[in-house]
Amino acid sequence: MEIKNICCIGAGYVGGPTMAVIAFKCPHINVTVVDANSEKIKAWNGPVENLPIYEPGLAEVVQQVRGRNLFFSDDIAENIEKSEMIFMAVNTPTKTEGQGAGMAADLRYVEACANDIAKYSKSDKIVIEKSTLPVRTAEKIEEILKENSNGIHFEILSNPEFLAEGTAIEDLFKSDRVLIGGDKTKSGQKAVQTLVNIYSNWIPKEKILTNNVWSAELAKLASNAMLAQRISSINSLSALCEKTGADIDELSKAIGMDHRIGPHFLKASVGFGGSCFQKDILNLVYLCNHYGLNEVAEYWHQVIKINDYQKKRFTKKVIEHFNGNLKGKKISIIGWGFKEKTNDSRESASIYVAKWLCELGAKIEIFDFHMSEDKIKKDFITYDFITNNYPTILSPEKEKIFKSSHAIILMTGDPRITKFNFGSSCVFDGRNVLKLASLKSKNKIISLDKPND
Ligand SMILES: NC(=O)c1ccc[n+]([C@@H]2O[C@H](COP(=O)([O-])OP(=O)(O)OC[C@H]3O[C@@H](n4cnc5c(N)ncnc54)[C@H](O)[C@@H]3O)[C@@H](O)[C@H]2O)c1
Repeated sequence: MEIKNICCIGAGYVGGPTMAVIAFKCPHINVTVVDANSEKIKAWNGPVENLPIYEPGLAEVVQQVRGRNLFFSDDIAENIEKSEMIFMAVNTPTKTEGQGAGMAADLRYVEACANDIAKYSKSDKIVIEKSTLPVRTAEKIEEILKENSNGIHFEILSNPEFLAEGTAIEDLFKSDRVLIGGDKTKSGQKAVQTLVNIYSNWIPKEKILTNNVWSAELAKLASNAMLAQRISSINSLSALCEKTGADIDELSKAIGMDHRIGPHFLKASVGFGGSCFQKDILNLVYLCNHYGLNEVAEYWHQVIKINDYQKKRFTKKVIEHFNGNLKGKKISIIGWGFKEKTNDSRESASIYVAKWLCELGAKIEIFDFHMSEDKIKKDFITYDFITNNYPTILSPEKEKIFKSSHAIILMTGDPRITKFNFGSSCVFDGRNVLKLASLKSKNKIISLDKPND
């Protein structure tokens, strides 16, 4: 099947950047990203400085290809109909109600996509799971497509996305690997090859792995679980450092220099956030329990429990510093996104720390380089902040002076914070980034591996 038109359903953190890069690297293919949220589509079509998501390098790519062979539209029906290949890049959050609530992935958006594809297709299509899905979801999608279609052939592939927010464009240009899972049938293998041909425009052949669908689906969950496990492992050791006088950064370096272990994801922090790690591990735990593998489920669940413990342990340091009396204390939180170089705050550790301190009466102010005021305000509602003590939000243009704060909480590793003026406030370093002698001399720094006094 010759691919002239690609449609991607979901214009979010995955759909936007991945399709921008495909369009950039494949000028012979028209790529249209559709979304049910018209406001988001409007923003994707607006000035590149205000795209709905912030990613280094994204605006430059969009600037070059938008209107050439990259389009954003809210006409889902028309774009499904005219495309030979359809990516599903919709959100798959943790279920909040019904069977598996709090653990299993909520597949309602993926199922809605499959229904739309079945409804609006008039010719054969290759349908690609780009969203992270529990293993064997392709079966469910196939069921929906078969039920609603009229003799049209759909080939379902799994092509999970491994980009990391903050480095998405770099990751997409130079992927460690691209994973494509498909049926072992002749038509399945043909569809796999069609997608291989698209990635081959810029990814070396040896980095494109073709698997069965179930391996591809599970590989994504397993990768995220292993990455998060490293973070929880090093974070658990930071608690032991606090008791023993060992230094967590020295420990990370010593451990990471072992080539069998490697240095990545060994930086202690207040805990991982983001839309993926927690939900994907919970999903993995749910799957293991579903298959009766209770010990395996408990093993992975521990990664989440340590992450929650680390957020609480860090917040307790702030509370203890004020002997539990936070009423009216002005505390500045620097960094709201779940990590630097992103405007995504889903499950950000900052949210949990801020919420707890607000509940104890602290006057919180928030500073972030990339988050809009609107997005932060939405988080107060989504995460149920008490309405009579919402934090105030500082503009990113504000002069970076926090002299009058009773305490500063650093929740970002952005190197620009080292230029800020913290006066003589006590600094709680949630990323263990302040190793600067100049700051150390002026400020009391409480880090993850040191006791308060
Ligand atoms: N964010 C990441 O870093 C990342 C990395 C790898 C994989 N993933 C996975 O990719 C998937 C998408 O993640 P995301 O962060 O891009 O989500 P997102 O919330 O940023 O974007 C999803 C978009 O899908 C749209 N949508 C939902 N249902 C729709 C429907 N039926 N029709 C049209 N549009 C619809 C929403 O309006 C939203 O704009 C998830 O499964 C996630 O786990 C995310």
